[in-house]
Amino acid sequence: MIPFTMHGSHILSTGSAVPDICINNELISTVIDTSDKWISTRTGIKERKIIDTNQSIVDLATLASHEALKKGLLKPQDLDLILFATSTPHDLFGSASQLQNCLGASNAAAFDITAACSGFVIALIVAHQFIQTGIYKNILIVGADTLSQWVDWSDRTTCILFGDGAGAAILQRSLKNDILSFEINTNGHESHQLSINYNYPKNHCTGNDTYTELLFNQKYNNQYDYLTMNGKEVYKFAVSQVPTSINNCLQKIHRPAKDITWLLLHQANQRILEAVANKLKIPIHQVISNIQFYGNTSAASIPIALNEAFDTGHICNRDVIAIAGFGAGLTWGSILIQWNALE
Ligand code: ACO
Repeated sequence: MIPFTMHGSHILSTGSAVPDICINNELISTVIDTSDKWISTRTGIKERKIIDTNQSIVDLATLASHEALKKGLLKPQDLDLILFATSTPHDLFGSASQLQNCLGASNAAAFDITAACSGFVIALIVAHQFIQTGIYKNILIVGADTLSQWVDWSDRTTCILFGDGAGAAILQRSLKNDILSFEINTNGHESHQLSINYNYPKNHCTGNDTYTELLFNQKYNNQYDYLTMNGKEVYKFAVSQVPTSINNCLQKIHRPAKDITWLLLHQANQRILEAVANKLKIPIHQVISNIQFYGNTSAASIPIALNEAFDTGHICNRDVIAIAGFGAGLTWGSILIQWNALE
């Protein structure tokens, strides 16, 4: 069944979607103790887009996917696989199948990948494996998150950071291969630094009721905590691990950092983007950044920025793009792409 020849993967097209509601720093400053100056100097964020109650993450993902399909001149039925990278699914069992249904992609298998802000990079790497081995031809990769629904809007240390959005890319089997090298890393020992924890009932822990009593008396309400983050530790982790990971990818193909045309990192904090670029000696004008408009959109941030970079003509034939995601898990992953425009 599996052919012996390895196939190439080509980024055929991209798309993105963000909600209409825009919350700028001035507006946030009217409800919590913060300021535009604090937020923009510490993070680079000026505004973020927030999902409305009549819209779901699947709606955003559908919009982004339609754009990628249209640009790639594909029909939904041409898709063989849909990978939905999200940590905020509409359904805890996964939202990939809902997306498959909304698109009418009846020939595609579909599943979720949960890896927070590294999700899109990891999904891209997973998709590449299916293409390389000849299993699938057209794979839709979506990164989407709606963390506005999971942050505590009275916690100024986290709520100012996040926005909602979706980005999509179609990876297609090709004679030319865009993907040069990659790596994925996990450090579960530090998972407590950034999490949305399952909340066990307090009275179970104190031993007043047994677990079965709680279940039978329906006192056991399933719920998750708000997002919590040790910002300083996550910052230090990102600035130390991401350059190493990109350097590892460069070493695998024996190429220097100066060959990188574009550095595209998860849009978490402008200071992180600059610190990583500095360590890799990549000039700031080669760093793709749109954080000021969207904040941290988690799994969506890289594909939204990638789509904008293609749309604005920044990415040209044979450009080398170093992409890295990092975040909860802790997880991080890098992928080096040399993009080949189709002739
Ligand atoms: N407005 C005003 N003051 C604030 C705010 C705010 N919104 N938030 C915190 N402060 C205060 C703090 O209380 C603190 O005051 P103190 O000195 O009196 O105690 C002071 O500002 C400094 O706070 P720090 O937390 O030290 O600020 P820092 O410079 O570290 O910036 C930030 C915080 C922006 C969160 C930064 O640490 C960061 O970007 N970390 C990385 C986040 C990240 O990359 N996440 C990626 C993954 S996300 C995912 O996977 C889902």
